[in-house]
Amino acid sequence: MTRSIVLLVLIFAYSVSFGQKTWSSDVAQIVYDNCSSCHNPSGIGPFSLMQYADASLRANAIKTSITNKSMPPWIADNDYQEYAHARVLTEAEIATITEWVDNGSPEGDASKTPPPPVYKTRGFIEQKPDLELKIPKYKSKATTISDDYVCFSLPSNLASNKKIRAFEVVPGNHSIVHHVLVYLDPTGNYATDTAAGVCTGPTKGLIGGYVPGSPPTIFPTNGTDFNLGFEIESGSNVVLAMHYPEGSFGELDSTLIRFWFYDDDVTMRELESSSLIENWQFALPANQETKVEADQVITGGDLSILTVFPHMHLLGKTIESYAVTPSDDTIPFVNIPHWDFEWQEFLFFKRAKKLPSGSTIYGKGVYDNTTNNHHNPNKPPKNVFPGLNTSDEMFLIYFHYLPYVAGDENRDIEALGTLAIANMFEADQAKVYPNPAQDRVMFDFGVDGSTTINLRIYDVLGQKVGEVVSDSDEIVWQIPLGLTSGIYHYSANIEGSFVNGSFVVR
Ligand code: HEC
Repeated sequence: MTRSIVLLVLIFAYSVSFGQKTWSSDVAQIVYDNCSSCHNPSGIGPFSLMQYADASLRANAIKTSITNKSMPPWIADNDYQEYAHARVLTEAEIATITEWVDNGSPEGDASKTPPPPVYKTRGFIEQKPDLELKIPKYKSKATTISDDYVCFSLPSNLASNKKIRAFEVVPGNHSIVHHVLVYLDPTGNYATDTAAGVCTGPTKGLIGGYVPGSPPTIFPTNGTDFNLGFEIESGSNVVLAMHYPEGSFGELDSTLIRFWFYDDDVTMRELESSSLIENWQFALPANQETKVEADQVITGGDLSILTVFPHMHLLGKTIESYAVTPSDDTIPFVNIPHWDFEWQEFLFFKRAKKLPSGSTIYGKGVYDNTTNNHHNPNKPPKNVFPGLNTSDEMFLIYFHYLPYVAGDENRDIEALGTLAIANMFEADQAKVYPNPAQDRVMFDFGVDGSTTINLRIYDVLGQKVGEVVSDSDEIVWQIPLGLTSGIYHYSANIEGSFVNGSFVVR
């Protein structure tokens, strides 16, 4: 062989081994960043994708789910409009994972695998909340074929009006809370409804929601002259409309909501949240697809539009909304080519949209009331009409908006909407003391006394050496006589959320 051929062969061998995508050097980080927030042992995803073994086992399903774009779940068309916090893979990321799967999903050098994230399952925002409300412990009534939709109306007990800067829904049981809608009820009269399993909340006052994987709702502020948020009046109730999916029967939940307020003397520009588009006059005959539309001319001043939130129930198929200005410009808000009731959420635009007074907002939806729609709750299909229950239908497009001020459209909503978010990858830890411990060790999980905690102690080899189940916020574990000194791990299941850490026995 001539030298040049040897060189070519070497270059070829080099590029094959180096070009090959591996879990450790290419794929793991993409999966951690885009999948593991739901696909972790206590997340809503049906399996974990935290380790090579988990992912390689499902390589083909992963490839299918990312090429047909069913994963990560995100219903809006991002070519139509750009949103903050969008859950989407780039084409390059899709290509990397696909190539990895096609090459037999090799692990690569396991010692180079980035350590998987540890999830905070008990809330992201680090600052102490100004108000925390918790639903009474609830047992899901969803059966194997039907979901459970219930509403909890929680008195805020606020003595004066407050300005909401941020809120965060913290599911009690991450594996069964599929979505939560958050309403303010200034009358304080809205009643908790857990009877029939079809409650979707009040007709007014929707300020936001939660779906698994969504960040807390933090309204943009620059700390000086640009502070957006909602006012909550004294005496208001906060209503959480919960969705527990089929199969969750008998599982416990104790979801809570935390609020952070602006200081009372901060000048806040108050957001409105309302369905600028709605239609209550339609019929969806069985066994056919039906178009439903609505429009509204906006008068009385220019608006800045911050979010869009289309809302249909189980028969929804597609929904689109845009505005046409008096000078005939089109402002695209949202296009959802495959409606999915389970992944509906407020979509924050990257930058607020200026809507000139005199513009018309349009909403166009299609409902599929045939057997082709596998979400259709009626088998065989029956005629369906507008109404508040999940078995009825709705055609609403909510927006968060406020009177326009020059420059609003240039604010970076994603960057201004941040609070000291705790490192999302930091484990929750209990206070463990004394540490090192000798006769007994105390755990304080910082939860209130009505929460059931199942605590286990493992030795370094993973052998269980102790277990305590308790309803008290402070747990004492008597260290068995003769336990070898060394490092021990605790792992607690707090109504579906896992917390773990370690301590030393002397
Ligand atoms: C926001 C939460 C969330 C994220 C993020 C997410 N998944 Fe999922 N995934 C789910 C849920 C929930 C299911 C169960 C089916 C459903 O409800 O759609 C699921 C199901 C799946 C399935 C089973 C087949 C299917 O399509 O239903 C695969 C494979 C999958 N996910 C892969 C991924 C991959 C790969 C990523 C990252 C690129 C990802 N998921 C990101 C929540 C999520």
